[in-house]
Amino acid sequence: MRFFLFLAFAAVIAAHSIFLRQNTTLPSTFKWTSTDILVSPKNDSRGIAGIKDPSIVYYRNTYHVFASTAKAEGYNLVYFNFTNFSEAGAAPFYYLDQSGIGTGYRAAPEVFYFEPQKLWYLIYQNGNAAYSTNKDISDPAGWTAPKNFYRGTPALIEEGLKTPQQGYWVDMWVICDDAECHLFSSDDNGRLYRSQTTLSSFPEGMSDPVIAMQANKNDLFEASLVYSISPNLYLLLVECIGAAPSSAGGVRYFRSWTSSSISGPWAALAATETNPFLGENNVLFTGTQWTNSLSHGEIIRTQLDQTLRITPCNMRFLYQGVEPTANVTYNALPWRLGLASQIDGKC
Ligand SMILES: *[C@@H]1O[C@H](CO)[C@@H](O)[C@H](O)[C@H]1NC(C)=O
Ligand SMILES: *[C@@H]1O[C@H](CO)[C@@H](O)[C@H](O)[C@H]1NC(C)=O
Ligand SMILES: *[C@@H]1O[C@H](CO)[C@@H](O)[C@H](O)[C@H]1NC(C)=O
Ligand SMILES: *[C@@H]1O[C@H](CO)[C@@H](O)[C@H](O)[C@H]1NC(C)=O
Ligand SMILES: *[C@@H]1O[C@H](CO)[C@@H](O)[C@H](O)[C@H]1NC(C)=O
Repeated sequence: MRFFLFLAFAAVIAAHSIFLRQNTTLPSTFKWTSTDILVSPKNDSRGIAGIKDPSIVYYRNTYHVFASTAKAEGYNLVYFNFTNFSEAGAAPFYYLDQSGIGTGYRAAPEVFYFEPQKLWYLIYQNGNAAYSTNKDISDPAGWTAPKNFYRGTPALIEEGLKTPQQGYWVDMWVICDDAECHLFSSDDNGRLYRSQTTLSSFPEGMSDPVIAMQANKNDLFEASLVYSISPNLYLLLVECIGAAPSSAGGVRYFRSWTSSSISGPWAALAATETNPFLGENNVLFTGTQWTNSLSHGEIIRTQLDQTLRITPCNMRFLYQGVEPTANVTYNALPWRLGLASQIDGKC
């Protein structure tokens, strides 16, 4: 009897410490510090103008980054890794057009480990929404050829791209709960889309998209990120364009929303330019303020699977920024990567 009491007591202690392991309450304001530029294009024969859209996981004591390479002629993808951010700028680039991903238009990657199939997935845009898989994240040559989630551009998206003006179908993002996988995308025209399929069918069977949210173009622009905080709390971030005039595609910042379900509805959290999730107004630069834009990037994930679980304190966000005076065509902008670290978060 005494032994069983002891067991019950031990179980309560264990359950309690699991419960305490993370704070699953999101604050309604965020504060960050940012580094100087950490990663720039290499001076190599590729002639890349900008390094963009990083997706990042920390796996086996190594940061693994997938990013877009941009220049006036177009986009492709790159992979690099490092063990300490002090070495990020020196990490060799592996250009992913050398893998099965191949040459041509590919951009805005998202990496995660799909536990049911024991495979890494890279989600990206190629005119459609595409994916490649790899058994080993450390083997960048191992990525498979692109496969599309949709047959052509879904009719709803086709229509949205022209309304009220010409947009672009961009920034695909996958997150799963314990039953479904959801695919988000944006149209640079004020609409956030969502499709879904079952966890067991993924990556096949994506449904026709629905409009997950709609607003003015600049208030719901692109680069959506959805994370789980707990099994019934989700965080949505969308990159938006601020009010200040700028020659470099606008000053970028992130708004945020929460929901108890990946399919919404979404309630505003820190969702204005003055109280953003991440933006010029809540970031303190420890060195030079090298950018006004805190643009497309990702929160560093240490939990690697398709549920994209993060702990909402001491978050670190690898973002793209650009020198404010840059005045060239959008694809040729000199985007660089910096790291924002959350401060005042309560764990
Ligand atoms: C959890 O985070 C919330 C929001 O930041 C904060 O109000 C609360 O005090 C935190 N709880 C603990 C136990 O730190
Ligand atoms: C590339 O060369 C330019 C000067 O030509 C220099 O300013 C820049 O720091 C170099 N970048 C790297 C990553 O070495
Ligand atoms: C990362 O590098 C910095 C600067 O060299 C060093 O101070 C820090 O201790 C390193 N961090 C780890 C975890 O090794
Ligand atoms: C780091 O990247 C290189 C390719 O540049 C790759 O060969 C190597 O396996 C990677 N290392 C780790 C630890 O993933
Ligand atoms: C950007 O450059 C163009 C010429 O290439 C010039 O007409 C325009 O005024 C410049 N814009 C800014 C904000 O400097």
